[in-house]
Amino acid sequence: MSAGAGKDGQRLFFALWPSDEFRADLVAATQSIASASGGRVIPSENLHVTLLFLGQVAPVRFDAVQQAGMACANSSAFELRFDHTEIWGRANLLALTTSSIPPQASQLAKKLRDSLRDEVARTSEHEFRPHITLARDLPRRSQPRQIKLLSMKVNDFVLVQSRPGPGGSQYSVVARWPLVC
Ligand code: 2AM
Repeated sequence: MSAGAGKDGQRLFFALWPSDEFRADLVAATQSIASASGGRVIPSENLHVTLLFLGQVAPVRFDAVQQAGMACANSSAFELRFDHTEIWGRANLLALTTSSIPPQASQLAKKLRDSLRDEVARTSEHEFRPHITLARDLPRRSQPRQIKLLSMKVNDFVLVQSRPGPGGSQYSVVARWPLVC
């Protein structure tokens, strides 16, 4: 995890990373909704579910982050059933989300958060609501919209580094831990 780490550390977050197959289904099901929203559409390779956003992490804390991931390895696998979109927050982001949050997903996010209290960005203290951000900065808000059910089987979770790039954030998966059925 030290590659690319300057003295200021790395911008990191834990996430659920779609398989290539699910990503293709996701794009096919949501592309037109995202484009029609009028917002800044998230590139397909960046679509993910954030489990816990850490923000800038100092190199001296990298081991603690890795250990928190390791301590959650082999937690229970689960399935996220995305069934509607909503518009959230001050950034008017278009979120693909679910009407039923699996307890295993909440437990995983909570366990990571509890073991990384000192690392967690103060801005991400809200409750975990699984979602995939499809677009940001929508020009207007609208009512939730149902979509055809999209099921994401979650068999692992990852640690991701975010770097600023010319066309927006660039994400790289730096570590991965399995979940068990
Ligand atoms: P999002 O999942 O709601 O879009 C990487 O930047 C990911 O971490 C993004 O997907 C983003 O949220 C989430 N994120 C970025 N900044 C955040 C913050 N200050 N608080 C909570 N989550 C944040």
